[in-house]
Amino acid sequence: MPTTTTDRILNFSAGPATMPVSVLRQAQSDLLNIAESGIGICEHSHRGEIFDTILEEAIADCRVIGNIPDEFEVLFLQGGATLQFAMIAMNFLSEGETATYLDTGVWASKAIKEAKKIGNVHLAFDGSKCNYDHCPTDDEIDALENVAYMHYCTNNTIYGTRFSNIPASEAPLICDMSSDIFSRQVDWSKFDMVYAGAQKNLGPAGTVLVIIRKSMLEKCPDGLPSTLNYKMVATKGSRLNTPPTFGIYLMGQVFKWILNEGGLQAIEKKNEHKSGLIYDALDSIPDFYTTFARDGSRSQMNISFKTKSPELDAMFLEESAKQGMSGLKGHRDLGGLRASIYNAFPEEGCARFAEFIQSFASSH
Ligand SMILES: Cc1ncc(COP(=O)(O)O)c(C=O)c1O
Repeated sequence: MPTTTTDRILNFSAGPATMPVSVLRQAQSDLLNIAESGIGICEHSHRGEIFDTILEEAIADCRVIGNIPDEFEVLFLQGGATLQFAMIAMNFLSEGETATYLDTGVWASKAIKEAKKIGNVHLAFDGSKCNYDHCPTDDEIDALENVAYMHYCTNNTIYGTRFSNIPASEAPLICDMSSDIFSRQVDWSKFDMVYAGAQKNLGPAGTVLVIIRKSMLEKCPDGLPSTLNYKMVATKGSRLNTPPTFGIYLMGQVFKWILNEGGLQAIEKKNEHKSGLIYDALDSIPDFYTTFARDGSRSQMNISFKTKSPELDAMFLEESAKQGMSGLKGHRDLGGLRASIYNAFPEEGCARFAEFIQSFASSH
């Protein structure tokens, strides 16, 4: 059974995605017996001492990695990033108020759709007009004054675009970082809430990380059901009901792995290098490959591209699979090909893939 980073299949899946091998190994052992307790991680009470320590360490390590100031709460929720689309509006968009949204792709659009069920939405950037090929500069954003908040998505998983800057906003800034959280450093002075589904950069599906400014919690309406109210979840320290204990444990292990890798500064540098290897290979054969994202908006996590024809794309998939590469089919909304290379995707895998890109073009 392949168990090292190099002999496993190179998994380019957009999420759930590759996790660090050392984390998976630790989990293997902790599933049976964690911290010499004689009981596995999934079998411990969420209110027992073992889980107390896991939760405390996960929050503490998250704070260290992200350099998260004390004014923010670190919370673990469920319902995927998709439930956040609704919860944000339920908590922060009161009757008669308007929230600003930037539509930069499928997930940003879904957030807008959910918010519209709750209140008024002002669309300050409509990416559908440019086929979502880039993220807007401040000049392209038609901001409104006196809105409840502005929502955007830092990295568009499907189109492979990302914001290289943080959009200017006078309103509280709320951000979906599901597909690039902790891939680069974050300037917390600009944000009021950040959230991310775990299944790309943080661990397994089923847990959502929410990092929220404490002052935002005061705005949560008392009438909301408890599990949908950020203030209630924060008051109960993410244990309002049984939390996803295994997911939080694994996220905690991923945080320890990030620390071990040298923190976000080192991770950011590595991501630049990894994505650079692949973009350079694609750019070196411009009459064969086309990348989807415009220059300046290229994602370092998801590289969406295509060859000269759908038939060649299919052959690319077939031949790459024979080389032990998986998950390269583009999203059904966009077609073509996509390589997702989150933090845990190995550097040597990117180098191998860059070589494959070159050799495939030469032989076709
Ligand atoms: C940027 C982004 N936001 C939100 C989601 C939805 O996440 P979930 O399936 O956890 O609800 C995804 C899923 O891929 C995503 O990529």
